[in-house]
Amino acid sequence: MGSTAAHVAVVAFPFSSHAPKLLAVARGLSTVAPSVTVSFVSTADTLARLKGGANPANLRFVEMPSGAGEEEGDQAGTPMWRRLEMFLEAAEDGGLKKALETAGAAGVKVSCVVGDIFMSMAAEVGLPWVAVWTGGPTALLAHLIGKALREDIGDNAASRADEFLTSYPGFGIFRVRDLPFSGPPGSTDGGNMSRVMTLLFRRVVERVHRAATAVAVNAFPGLFPPDISAALDDALPNCHPIGPYYLLPGAGAVAADDRHGCLPWLNDRPAASVVYVSFGTVASLPPDELRELASGLEATGAPFLWSLREDSWPLLPPGFMDRAKANNSGLLVPWSPQGAVLKHPAVGAFVTHSGWGAVLEGMSGGVPMACRPSFGDQHMNARAIEHLWCFGKALGDGQPLTSAAVTETVASLLTGEEGARMRANARDLQTRMLRAFGPTGESTTNFHNFVDLVCTLV
Ligand SMILES: *[C@@H]1O[C@H](CO)[C@@H](O)[C@H](O)[C@H]1NC(C)=O
Ligand SMILES: *[C@@H]1O[C@H](CO)[C@@H](O)[C@H](O)[C@H]1NC(C)=O
Repeated sequence: MGSTAAHVAVVAFPFSSHAPKLLAVARGLSTVAPSVTVSFVSTADTLARLKGGANPANLRFVEMPSGAGEEEGDQAGTPMWRRLEMFLEAAEDGGLKKALETAGAAGVKVSCVVGDIFMSMAAEVGLPWVAVWTGGPTALLAHLIGKALREDIGDNAASRADEFLTSYPGFGIFRVRDLPFSGPPGSTDGGNMSRVMTLLFRRVVERVHRAATAVAVNAFPGLFPPDISAALDDALPNCHPIGPYYLLPGAGAVAADDRHGCLPWLNDRPAASVVYVSFGTVASLPPDELRELASGLEATGAPFLWSLREDSWPLLPPGFMDRAKANNSGLLVPWSPQGAVLKHPAVGAFVTHSGWGAVLEGMSGGVPMACRPSFGDQHMNARAIEHLWCFGKALGDGQPLTSAAVTETVASLLTGEEGARMRANARDLQTRMLRAFGPTGESTTNFHNFVDLVCTLV
């Protein structure tokens, strides 16, 4: 499939967990279209982290600038918002264009850009642009109609927080406070991250409406009910649900890195008995909520596997880990192979911030989820889990987190009739997801159409 004159550049956004999702798309493209050249474009750091392992012969790696200036060469000492801002400025300021020229210099010129939607400067380089959204699809919809929503809500977001957005097609289960427009809470950067993200999204929305040939969405067809799917189709030019991206052909070639022994530890536990806890790479709970979560977890008496950044370990309640170690009831690790952990039969509940990657992995494992969303798409994702697909619950839903809420919610996922119902719903989603990737599945068909599209754009 595809012509040898095609050269597709897949451009990653090198922050948070975006880049591996774009690499999955790049691997999928190069696997399905072996005669087409595919270049994966990102910063040196990201390429070094991701390019290992067996890669298709037609997949190349091309570097673009990180934007770190001489005076700010020490990336570790530069705040996140500033690194983001410098990267975007460099990319807007010719950095992406130059990288695409470099990619084309060795042979076939780049014919089409398939890029993370956050890299919307791709709309300005004079090539066809196909955008890739990695987050929750309903949050993208909210951003695309964001102008109308913001004009409607005005300065009343706080007083109207609990109001349902029933007058917007597809938004019936969502409330004002579930919208993805606010930045990460509790930041000490004087609102700088929000400022950078607001500018980024303003450009994304303007450019998607004006210039995107198509938009890939990280979901399988039929995941959302007809009203939400119709609203997405309406707002998005040529929307392609081809996900989950990590199930694309050739995407999952990398073996799980289980350096802390999570999988052997799970092997010794009964089916559906373990609570797996992870709040992702970016989100972290405030210290008081972390303590409530730990004591609530302990009070359930269920074994737990907790993936938590090491700098947060000192914040756990005194003796928490000693007690868990004493009867081997808990394992605390700084990193876990989440996809493989959630597919392990011993895992019975997943406590998470409900980032979209985590939601898809939870579905993939058929595991009920307890959601404590923090920012971005997470609130809408949590809402969909509880009210659309009914395989999980919100933890605290806007209220301060208490250990009692943790114990009660987690126990309801693991046991009883309600838990059994949520598990059945999660397993149904798991089955539908796998079916979408069968030989005649809808994600498979959509992906082949997507590959045909990007390989013939010139
Ligand atoms: C926020 O950004 C401005 C302008 O770039 C900068 O002067 C200020 O120091 C930043 N504030 C914080 C708290 O980082
Ligand atoms: C482990 O021990 C604690 C008390 O030290 C107890 O509350 C908990 O239920 C035990 N967990 C398991 C899985 O046996």
